[in-house]
Amino acid sequence: MFYVFTKKMLGKNRTRQVLLFLWILSLGLVRGQVSYSIPEEMPKGSFVGNIAQDLGLDLKRLNTGKARIYTGDDTEHISLNKDRGVLSIKERIDREALCEQTTPCALHFQIMLENPLEFYTVTVEVTDINDNPPVFRQSEMKFEINELAQTGSRFVLERANDEDVGVNGLQSYTLNPTDHFVLQLYSDPEGNKNVEMVLQKSLDREINDNLSLMLTALDGGEPQMSGTMQIQITVLDANDNAPVCSQSVYKAVVSENSPPGTILTTVSASDADQGLHGMVSYSISTKGANSMFDIDSREGVVKLIGSIDYEKQKYYQLNIQARDHGGHADVCKVMISVNDINDNKPVINIMSKSKEISEDSEKETAVAILSVQDPDSGENGKVQCFINDNIPFSLKSTSSNFFSLVTDNELDRERQKDYNITVTCTDEGVPSLSNSVTLSLHISDVNDNAPVFEKGSYEASILENNSPGLSIFAIRAQDADWNQNARISYMLEESTINGVSVSAYVSVNADNGVINALRSFDYEQIKDVQFYVKAQDGGSPPRSSNASVRIIIQDQNDNAPQMLYPVHTGSSLVAEMVPRSADVGYLVTKVVAVDVDSGQNAWLSYKLQKTTERALFEVGAQNGEIRTIRQINDKDAVKQKISVVVEDNGQPPRSATVNVNVIVADSFPDVLSEFSDFTHDKEYNDNLTFYLVLALAVVSFLFIVSIIAIFSVKCYRWRRERMCYKSNGHLPVIPYYPPLYADAGGTGTLQHVYNYEVCRTTDSRKSDLKNMRPCSQSIISLNTTGTLTLPHAHREKLIIEDSDDQVS
Ligand SMILES: *[C@@H]1O[C@H](CO)[C@@H](O)[C@H](O)[C@H]1NC(C)=O
Ligand SMILES: *[C@@H]1O[C@H](CO)[C@@H](O)[C@H](O)[C@H]1NC(C)=O
Ligand SMILES: *[C@@H]1O[C@H](CO)[C@@H](O)[C@H](O)[C@H]1NC(C)=O
Repeated sequence: MFYVFTKKMLGKNRTRQVLLFLWILSLGLVRGQVSYSIPEEMPKGSFVGNIAQDLGLDLKRLNTGKARIYTGDDTEHISLNKDRGVLSIKERIDREALCEQTTPCALHFQIMLENPLEFYTVTVEVTDINDNPPVFRQSEMKFEINELAQTGSRFVLERANDEDVGVNGLQSYTLNPTDHFVLQLYSDPEGNKNVEMVLQKSLDREINDNLSLMLTALDGGEPQMSGTMQIQITVLDANDNAPVCSQSVYKAVVSENSPPGTILTTVSASDADQGLHGMVSYSISTKGANSMFDIDSREGVVKLIGSIDYEKQKYYQLNIQARDHGGHADVCKVMISVNDINDNKPVINIMSKSKEISEDSEKETAVAILSVQDPDSGENGKVQCFINDNIPFSLKSTSSNFFSLVTDNELDRERQKDYNITVTCTDEGVPSLSNSVTLSLHISDVNDNAPVFEKGSYEASILENNSPGLSIFAIRAQDADWNQNARISYMLEESTINGVSVSAYVSVNADNGVINALRSFDYEQIKDVQFYVKAQDGGSPPRSSNASVRIIIQDQNDNAPQMLYPVHTGSSLVAEMVPRSADVGYLVTKVVAVDVDSGQNAWLSYKLQKTTERALFEVGAQNGEIRTIRQINDKDAVKQKISVVVEDNGQPPRSATVNVNVIVADSFPDVLSEFSDFTHDKEYNDNLTFYLVLALAVVSFLFIVSIIAIFSVKCYRWRRERMCYKSNGHLPVIPYYPPLYADAGGTGTLQHVYNYEVCRTTDSRKSDLKNMRPCSQSIISLNTTGTLTLPHAHREKLIIEDSDDQVS
């Protein structure tokens, strides 16, 4: 007989079991033992063993001995059928509950019989069946692993537990999937099988941030049982990704002058990281571009903030830095091209210009050189230039953007002396812009115009007996040129009048063209003065023109009528004889007078001043004829004296008186007796013929001498070159016969007599002639140098009075 003590029995009920055993031993009643083996979990009533047979007991004994099972505690897994003597399962037996992990596991109990008291020990071994799967305490395990975790990192997993033992116990683990982790088992010092998960391939949150693994624990039973646990791995983000621009280059086009705020483009960069690691902020990293462009740091919208000018910069390249909060960055390039807008006027530069050009400039003379630029490009920068119309200039394009302004016609300062030349340049943009400059050009003078007199010929009249130095009138010439070229000097053209230089008669004021008489003119000697005046400008060479001037000398009533017949001598008396029988209207005589003046001043009229017999004679007012107006009777005196007054028509009138003696007689003896007191008159009459002949001879002689003298003087003057002007005293005084005189000659017979009388008068009546003023008596002026220069003659003058004895 042997006892098998279970651990439990030894442990738990040790004290009681030992006591019971000792009691049984002391009685010496333990008769035998038997063992059975059954699997666990047998249903109730299942047969365990036939103890009657195995212990050799009689069924009666079982009944009489009141056999029963003694377990020592209250648990009874096995029941005893006394009638059949077999053991059967009373309660389901769970090995794991009974023995936990202890093997082998057995139930120990006694079968007790009374009368006599007997013990039988029964051991029922309970064998394991695979009735428990491996079990994890929790269904899920969570890990948070940084994506940067090193490979080889270990993560301890929870073990599974399988209550079964032996081959039915936990045998192995599997993990699925195994991309990143593998399992590793190891036993700790206590012999526990621990399981670990080892990272063998690094994680990437950006690829997979949520790993779900299945850990399966397997036992070795048949059929095999397993337990599973979910492993949830959350991959934690690390800032292992830099932002990445969505395009390597962003292109934008903007028109110049776009308003600030214009959106150019939007830059976007993505960062695979999470949270702050993936939050991208943008900034412009190009130096100096921040004044021009701005970027929204969150949205990446690139805006214009400055004023954009195509002419300053045509392209911009911006580097935009996209940076996450962990310090990683990328650079996105933005290329901005600027579109040209026609916002610039052409710029006209005057490179050189003349302020003035001469009016005789050749055609194609350059006046100015211009350079024209338009900062715009393309059509906006193409420039065309033109000048205002109707001016004698043209614009020539010399090379691109250079223009020269040249004359293209003849210039005439006298027509236009200033030009405003407006150069206008227009570009071809839409709308086009233009600019203009005005050049003022002065045409300088050239002496191309001669002075022009207002009239080609001038005529003026002056009364004779003028005072020397009298200004007569002014002539005037104009010169279209300018300044010195238009400064006119007037001067006399040299000529002679009656052999005398014209400069002896008149002078011209060089400055103002006033013509002065240099002497007192005598109409009876010179009726007009004709000469030329030259007007000359101050140009170089000078230009000149001339005008003819005629000064008409007007008559003044400065000469009294002169008696030609009858002639009075100092002592002799001439008498006209009238027969007593003369009829009414008998022509007694004719009074003849002349007046050297002309016109009205020489218009003579005759009238009686006094008569002895008032009614006997009358004188023709026009013709001077003395006629009887009635029959002579005895009462009339023999001697009649008639005073005839001859008066000219001048203002005031001048007159002369002549006495006519008339003898009324029937016969010549009567006359003689009547004129007894006229004896000397008789002698006078006797000598008359002689005197007449003599006078004629003398006059003829003097005439020839005078001709010779004039000729000689002319030659003399020619030689002296007018050094000194001397009055020509030998000039014959030729009396002037007014037209009236010829009319007066009513009776032809008398005319010859009068002619003789003229000659005689010329000779004998010096006193009358002295009243006339020949040219020799005028005042002339001589310059001290001896050269006659009229303009200044009146300033320094040497007055030479000619003596009277030069007058013939
Ligand atoms: C991970 O996956 C599980 C199941 O697939 C899901 O329930 C869980 O919400 C996920 N976690 C995250 C952070 O996505
Ligand atoms: C030129 O311009 C000036 C100033 O504008 C003006 O005084 C002058 O009269 C102009 N001359 C001509 C010839 O138009
Ligand atoms: C006056 O001028 C004309 C030409 O203009 C010339 O023919 C003439 O000879 C000049 N006369 C004098 C007296 O100088």
